[in-house]
Amino acid sequence: MKKTIQLCVLSLLIFFLMLISSTSAQDSEQDRERLYMTKFCITCHGQKGISVAPNYPNLAKQNEQYLVSQMKDIIKKKRANKLTLLMTEHPVVISISDEEIAAVAIYMTNIKLTP
Ligand code: HEC
Repeated sequence: MKKTIQLCVLSLLIFFLMLISSTSAQDSEQDRERLYMTKFCITCHGQKGISVAPNYPNLAKQNEQYLVSQMKDIIKKKRANKLTLLMTEHPVVISISDEEIAAVAIYMTNIKLTP
């Protein structure tokens, strides 16, 4: 009996672990869009990648490979100017991982601009 309970608890634990790991993945369009919002990209680069100010670039439909390389350069400060500093001084933006950069680039490339 005790063993059965232990087994049940263990399998429940494994189930929840699987649930957590699957929800933190960035493999659906909604996950990638959420990343764009929670990493604050939206505050400057705007809804659907159309920027909120004339000195901020639009990112919608930009080439995926280019987005990844620019993001990496900006974060490593290889590409640095007064405006990229706005990005790199933002603690949430700078905390983005390589996997998240790849996911957010897919999101920006595939943005549909028509309603
Ligand atoms: C505080 C405002 C701000 C935030 C937040 C921000 N950016 Fe930026 N981003 C900028 C500005 C300004 C530039 C243009 C810098 C320049 O003129 O060189 C830029 C440039 C870029 C570029 C290069 C675009 C190009 O055409 O070369 C990419 C890609 C980019 N941002 C992605 C992101 C992503 C992804 C996030 C979220 C993780 C993000 N940015 C968050 C302000 C911001």
